Amino acid sequence: MKSGSPSKTSSRRRGFRLEHLAGFFVAAAVIFFVYSVFQASLGGSGSGGSTGAGSLGFRTRSLVHLGGNGQASTAEAASPSPCPEAHVRTEKVTVTKLVYGSTVQNPRAYHVVTTAAGFSNHWQARIHYYWYKKQRDACLREAVCDMGGFTRILHSGKADDLMDEIPTVVVDPLPPSISKNSTYIVLNRPYAFIQWINKVSIPEKYFVMCETDHLFMRPMPNLMNGESQGAALFSYIVPWDYPAIVRKFIGNVSDEEIHRVPQIGNSPTFVSVDEFRVVAPLWYNTTLEIYEDKEAHDAWNWVLEMYGYSLATYRARQNVNMKVHPNMLAHPPFDKEEVDYEGRPFYLLHLTYPCRYDKDGNMTDNSTLTAYAFDKRDYSSKPPARNLPEPPLFVRNNLVRLIVAMVNEATENLPCWDDYVATSKVTKCNQHKQGGTALLAST
Ligand SMILES: *[C@@H]1O[C@H](CO)[C@@H](O)[C@H](O)[C@H]1NC(C)=O
Ligand SMILES: *[C@@H]1O[C@H](CO)[C@@H](O)[C@H](O)[C@H]1NC(C)=O
Ligand SMILES: *[C@@H]1O[C@H](CO)[C@@H](O)[C@H](O)[C@H]1NC(C)=O
Ligand SMILES: *[C@@H]1O[C@H](CO)[C@@H](O)[C@H](O)[C@H]1NC(C)=O
Ligand SMILES: *[C@@H]1O[C@H](CO)[C@@H](O)[C@H](O)[C@H]1NC(C)=O
Repeated sequence: MKSGSPSKTSSRRRGFRLEHLAGFFVAAAVIFFVYSVFQASLGGSGSGGSTGAGSLGFRTRSLVHLGGNGQASTAEAASPSPCPEAHVRTEKVTVTKLVYGSTVQNPRAYHVVTTAAGFSNHWQARIHYYWYKKQRDACLREAVCDMGGFTRILHSGKADDLMDEIPTVVVDPLPPSISKNSTYIVLNRPYAFIQWINKVSIPEKYFVMCETDHLFMRPMPNLMNGESQGAALFSYIVPWDYPAIVRKFIGNVSDEEIHRVPQIGNSPTFVSVDEFRVVAPLWYNTTLEIYEDKEAHDAWNWVLEMYGYSLATYRARQNVNMKVHPNMLAHPPFDKEEVDYEGRPFYLLHLTYPCRYDKDGNMTDNSTLTAYAFDKRDYSSKPPARNLPEPPLFVRNNLVRLIVAMVNEATENLPCWDDYVATSKVTKCNQHKQGGTALLAST
């Protein structure tokens, strides 16, 4: 078993970077330290946002767009680039870090914590981690980078063959006495997080809970509201549609209060380690209470653990200053572009929904009419092969194209993917991409 620190490779790379920039860092640190002490003595600046123009306040971040790196497209000369053309956007973000290029000294740095178990999560975790690393590398080249280390929480109770590739903490699944032999695997998630937080301490004060089917589209800033949580909006979580059920868990509150139960799930959600220690046991209890309440279970079914987290944050009063972001997670095929309806960039791509189209480019559920489909469920016994075909032109959805392009880029660059598709086992081989050998070189 391996603990949740960043991989040797990446810390070595960072060491290299730091060595070369050490002189600059020392100077910058001294200047910024003196400056921040000076600022603090003037009355401090909240990290949550409304800083005046003259304070430490804002710095421009440029967002990296995927359109530019056409790595995945070699054969398809005539067809359009899989991703929409790159637009370099700039966005103002609050900067509180003192040293450029380092996330260790950045007080806003966050850890990425992704739960996984089972075969589908195995191949998805490899692609998820590939994109985390790529976007973190891009992030570290920017003036401001909040992305810190990475941990996969493997809640199967047993180490697997990705331990050397992905920083991993192994925890136990829910004991059968509690799960009642349920196969409903998401019930394991709160239990997994509780074991992890009790076992491991991370260098960052914050983390974002992720799942393996969230792909980093670009470097993601810390999206918390100061010390309060920042969470992705899930428009299908609607507590006020179930007032009677909600009151079973939070008491006989007013309708107005019911509207304050947030439309979120546990992931992706940014949270501080301190808040999480409070909410995690409540999340666990609330989820089990919902699971055992027939009315609530029937109403919320496959999303009951999301309601469990949402209601737990309400119970802990952590909903009060929480920020809910419509642009943290894109949901293709319902979202179509890399930006949301207000033009804000999406940060994570959720590849969970089936993307099925008929020959006219209309979405369809009818398999007879389906002319193009990408559905991760088609890969529940075998990983996707390299070079999945691009969606045809009648699929007028840039995010579906992006899913295929991102999967293809990862499978092209992860070592020995063809062997992996054939055997579902991670093998060491010399074929196909030397870039990967470093990943497998340890032990
Ligand atoms: C779970 O399944 C095992 C083996 O099938 C059985 O022995 C045990 O009694 C079951 N536990 C519960 C709580 O149903
Ligand atoms: C719930 O609160 C409302 C308004 O305060 C009150 O009229 C009602 O009797 C309460 N119901 C229960 C079951 O306590
Ligand atoms: C969770 O439930 C258990 C058993 O009912 C209880 O003892 C414990 O105090 C609860 N924890 C929290 C944080 O509510
Ligand atoms: C299917 O797509 C065509 C062409 O875009 C459109 O005209 C038509 O209304 C769509 N049909 C349905 C049922 O949405
Ligand atoms: C699917 O489409 C075929 C061909 O138009 C039609 O015959 C069939 O009834 C449709 N199936 C469903 C479930 O709608």
